[in-house]
Amino acid sequence: MVDWIKEQSGGDKRIQSELRAAGGLPAHIAFIMDGNGRWAQEQGKARVAGHREGIESVRDIVKAASQLGLKNVTLYAFSMENWRRPQAEVNVLMDLLSRYLRSEKKELHANNVRLRAIGKLNALPKKVQRQLFESIETMKDNTGLTLTLALSYSGRWDIVRAIQTIALDVRRGKVSPEDITEESVSSYLLTNSLPEPDLMIRTSGEMRLSNFLLWESAYAEIYITDKFWPEFRRNELYEALRDYQNRERRFGKTSQQIADESRDQSFVQRLLGSIKIP
Ligand code: FPP
Repeated sequence: MVDWIKEQSGGDKRIQSELRAAGGLPAHIAFIMDGNGRWAQEQGKARVAGHREGIESVRDIVKAASQLGLKNVTLYAFSMENWRRPQAEVNVLMDLLSRYLRSEKKELHANNVRLRAIGKLNALPKKVQRQLFESIETMKDNTGLTLTLALSYSGRWDIVRAIQTIALDVRRGKVSPEDITEESVSSYLLTNSLPEPDLMIRTSGEMRLSNFLLWESAYAEIYITDKFWPEFRRNELYEALRDYQNRERRFGKTSQQIADESRDQSFVQRLLGSIKIP
């Protein structure tokens, strides 16, 4: 079985260790994989060829993220709105998903990836559900990259689902309305075991969130590239990470506050480092 660390080239290892050394890598990256159809069109091919090539990007990005030691990657693989596409294209996408799960399961597992899925999963074809749940079960105790597939997913749908469950809990007397907080709302979402995305990457130049992780991405840094998803490989990921590392995340504060906090933090670190325990 392929060991992703062993197969890595020296040059790629060097780039990754530079990225790690620069510090502040995102704990969670969410991808809106857009532009498969347009990529295919530009090549004079059928749309499905774009989805097929898109899977090669999925393979490379998952592998690179795992080699880098990133903890969470979430892929918007099929939105609830995508059910409205022509039936033939939906069938191809479901078939590709099924093939991906079958062909990658062993390799993902061998490389310590934990697979998860969010969305209205019972809307997926039974065969895909079975493969998905089997893979998730096999990999549930892995401790490396958590790879979450958003399938038949919609951000608003998940928020509505959470509100309905909260309302039921209020009716049952388990929750009182005045105790509802941002944290408790988050805990009702399907993403409750994931940190919020630090970085949201969208390919193909569109400037939209398209109903993806609406609540969770409140403070995500958004990176948009003109590359189509089938062209987005590890070098494009590295470029996005360098861009992210150069951003200042203020979470509503001023630049001055952020600079002061970082100075105070390094002072405490130096102080702790200088304390000798007798
Ligand atoms: C958007 O391109 C892409 C999708 C709707 C599907 C993404 C799916 C894959 C990359 C393959 C399956 C994924 C996994 C994880 C196995 P588009 O068709 O909307 O492109 P367009 O906007 O150019 O038409």
